[in-house]
Amino acid sequence: MALTLKSGFSFDYENLFGEGKVTQADLDAYKEDLKKAHEAMKVMRESGFIKAHLSKDGAPEKVYFSKLPYITEENGKLNLNSPASIKRLHDFTERIRNNVDAVVSLGIGGSFLGNKVLFDIFCGEFWNTWSPEQRKGLPKVYFSGQNIDPRRTGDIINHLKAIAQNIKTHENRKAKIMLIVISKSGGTLDTMSNFMVMYDELLKDNDMEVEIVAVTDPNMEKKTLLKQLAVDKGWETFAVPDGVGGRFTVFCEVGLSTAAVIGMDIEKFLQGAQDMDKACQNDDIMQNPAMLNAALKFIASEKYGRDIEVMMPYGDYLKSLSEWYIQLLAESLGKQFDKDGKEVCYGRTPLVAVGTTDMHSQTQQHQEGKLNKIVQFIKVDKWAKDYVIPNIFPEMQKLADVSGVTMSEALEVARQSNADALISNGRWSACFTLPELDEYHLGELLYLLAMSVAYEGELSNVDAFNQPGVESYKRIMGPKLQDVKKSKGL
Ligand code: PA5
Repeated sequence: MALTLKSGFSFDYENLFGEGKVTQADLDAYKEDLKKAHEAMKVMRESGFIKAHLSKDGAPEKVYFSKLPYITEENGKLNLNSPASIKRLHDFTERIRNNVDAVVSLGIGGSFLGNKVLFDIFCGEFWNTWSPEQRKGLPKVYFSGQNIDPRRTGDIINHLKAIAQNIKTHENRKAKIMLIVISKSGGTLDTMSNFMVMYDELLKDNDMEVEIVAVTDPNMEKKTLLKQLAVDKGWETFAVPDGVGGRFTVFCEVGLSTAAVIGMDIEKFLQGAQDMDKACQNDDIMQNPAMLNAALKFIASEKYGRDIEVMMPYGDYLKSLSEWYIQLLAESLGKQFDKDGKEVCYGRTPLVAVGTTDMHSQTQQHQEGKLNKIVQFIKVDKWAKDYVIPNIFPEMQKLADVSGVTMSEALEVARQSNADALISNGRWSACFTLPELDEYHLGELLYLLAMSVAYEGELSNVDAFNQPGVESYKRIMGPKLQDVKKSKGL
């Protein structure tokens, strides 16, 4: 049982829907709510209006993530993607090609997680060890700001200094380092403290030139700290548009700045998202992947207590996609109060897992632990590179038995066996299949997940676009930091 789109992307819900699982009667019981949620999505697409959504400052705020896949002049007026903004990103790629040696992307949460997904999937683990020719003249890429960890920050600084030393020795020139600082609010402690430490250290190094690019709220009337710095110092800037919350920014210049740095096909990525958006406009729930995904998981959680979602893609470089999804689900739906101010403490708990790796650690729990989970698999149909497992030890029967099978076939057999074992013990799962791991299908998947949480926000009547809970620790942390300063006599 699967919903398959023309592109070949599919959502297999066989192990989540039917007798002994979420039933047709369950879906029917939510018919009116689903209709309302679908209507709300139409209104959101047209006007950006989402009932009861308020910004951090308590003012009504529009929601524009569903406009991001569309590259139009009109969207450009809202700092969303336009022909001019996309051209600027292409120009950015060409400006840094053969000109910048290393880029550090600094950001956290929504200003990091999507960027890391793009890098991991399209560059892989060894990009930074490749020669400039192998990288087509594009820079090495590092991430920082996603923690306040002195050890790793120090390691990156030392590594950049070593790169500069090496370039000086072998090419007798200064290294060109670019720091891309990404912060919508423009003052996030994690990002900005790393940036200040790193910039200060790198400026002392005579073997490098350091350029800063700022990605922040473009508002010129009420400038963020980062915007103010960029204006004062003449740094190039990209925009985090109004109405696009952190966890939805992979499709705007936050994610697209990394896409440009690594030379990704941006239009193809947005086209995948756009085609998924169109599929999600279907009024028939069985043909609308976001509405169906949201409904099945919402009901599984509310009626059957399956309120943990294990996001388990099969493939190493997809782990960061799980991490991106964790933020999307947790920040969007983990809410104490609903849109009417009633205490509901809603939210499904997301978990990161990767197949086959976590079959050797978490699967015991998924298979026999509390009946409170859904395992959401992600599968890639056709891998760009594959190997046939060779028969190099014919004398070892067990090893000879697996020979002749490709690695991707073995990977899929492992996933399928996991799904079969889980359902044989009443454990539910679902699977998204990407025909290939390319920009288009990744765009489809990320957009589907974003649209699904928007639907689930409506079904559960919580604001999927705010995150008031993260302000609580910030209110405590600010004064505590000042206490530390005082105790040091500063
Ligand atoms: O989803 C969110 O809004 C958050 O996770 C933010 O992305 C994160 O806190 C970083 O914020 P900023 O981009 O303002 O530095």
